[in-house]
Amino acid sequence: MESLMPYLLPVLVPLFLYLFSLIYRKGSSRLPPGSVGWPILGENVEFAVVGSQRLIKERMQKYCRDAFKTNLFGEKLAVLCGAGGNKFIFTNEKKLFAPWFPVSLSKVIFPDFDHVRHQEPEATFYNFKHDVLKPEALRQYIPVMDKLAREHLRHGWMRNSVVKAGPATKKYTFELACRLFMDVVDPERLDKLLGPFSLMTDGMVSLPINFPGTAFNRALRGGRVVRAELLRIVEERRKELEVMSEGRGDLMSKMLLARSQEDGKPMSHTRVANMVVGLLVAGLYEVSSAINIVTQYLAQLPHIYDLVFKEQMEIATSKGADELLTEEDVEKMKYTWNVVLECFRITPPSFGTFRETITEFTFAGFTVPKGWKIMWTPHSTHNNPDYFPEPDKFDPSRFEGSGPPPYTFVPFGGGARMCPGRGYAKLVVLVFIHNLVTTFRFEKVLPHEKMLFNRLSPAPAHGLPIRLHPHQK
Ligand code: HEM
Repeated sequence: MESLMPYLLPVLVPLFLYLFSLIYRKGSSRLPPGSVGWPILGENVEFAVVGSQRLIKERMQKYCRDAFKTNLFGEKLAVLCGAGGNKFIFTNEKKLFAPWFPVSLSKVIFPDFDHVRHQEPEATFYNFKHDVLKPEALRQYIPVMDKLAREHLRHGWMRNSVVKAGPATKKYTFELACRLFMDVVDPERLDKLLGPFSLMTDGMVSLPINFPGTAFNRALRGGRVVRAELLRIVEERRKELEVMSEGRGDLMSKMLLARSQEDGKPMSHTRVANMVVGLLVAGLYEVSSAINIVTQYLAQLPHIYDLVFKEQMEIATSKGADELLTEEDVEKMKYTWNVVLECFRITPPSFGTFRETITEFTFAGFTVPKGWKIMWTPHSTHNNPDYFPEPDKFDPSRFEGSGPPPYTFVPFGGGARMCPGRGYAKLVVLVFIHNLVTTFRFEKVLPHEKMLFNRLSPAPAHGLPIRLHPHQK
């Protein structure tokens, strides 16, 4: 054998090196390709500068169209892309994935819920979220939405020739959600809440560095004020229920009256406040972003505005001036809804959400270990020419007939966790846009103002100032 060694060595060494490299490559190629950026900062600086839309597009081009890894909001994430990635996540809930929120969001919004990371929304507020968001409830909200939109336009918008649509729609959607979900209508109380609420939502998905001046620090401060005020409202409502046994019929009263099926105990005040905060965040943050997105496109696309105006005027002129909108009226807004969907395709109001991997899985040849965080995002499909030919063209007819292929158009997610508030969001947006276009023609004061994508929902860089031209009545 020894005598053969000089002859075998030149063969064995390369063979050994080759086998070693295979094993090594197998180990390091399990995860999707990508960069986890700088220590601590990850790729948050890029996210803050270029925003989610560009970051996703560039990473898919640079690394892989199916999946890539990154490091955002203090966590390493695998981003699954394309219709295949969306389908994989939406059809494997509970089997492979559990819901997960970035640390910043849990700490800012639900700091008292230590189990929130693996919270099953069904188990906590399933009944309530479906109660307040089910079709019978939604139907009753339409006149309330309409009346409040009229009041806001008459008192807040009509008096000015230029209005910042961003803060103005935030105020509208916040007042509406507070009215519908906890029956709070006092303008002073609402004004006091809106400031801290905005601080909280602006920093809820950020790098969790708690240092004066950071978005996270501001969000923590805002969250504390919001929760203290909501707890006060919960306690007031509890006292009210001692004399008014049925309550007001709003979500908060219903939660306080409910008893656990297991032990017959009521929910703690903190828990009620937490659940209401969750709904208010969605009702304000993503919905106001949605209205801004649509307003922006209508302001810059006059031919689309004209068709929306025509449809909405047909509805408006079929009714008396003081008659409020009904469900039947909203059902007639078919073209406008397709316009809204096309706006959501190009500029999705939510950049996506996260999961935690509960079992190791393989997707597109990559293996992602248990415990890793996963993200899906509408940015990986909405502007993809394979699914949406000429993706830069604004074309509401894409949503006619059977619409886009499955798992490509996902502004509200999909599968078991698909947004339960989508029916509510549709009504708020359509009712507001009805009032806006039947009252004004409008144009952007800053024609090149951009949408910022460095947060969960895009926001206009300068608050979307628009010049209003009231219609002659
Ligand atoms: C245009 C407005 C909205 C958009 C774009 C939007 C989008 C989304 C998205 C993308 C998800 C995540 C789905 C997933 O993780 O797979 C979600 C979840 C959720 N949304 Fe919305 N949403 C909107 C409005 C609302 C409203 C108004 C409410 C309630 C008032 C709401 C309540 C919720 C809740 C409770 C969940 C969690 C569902 C679960 O994990 O089971 N959303 N939404």
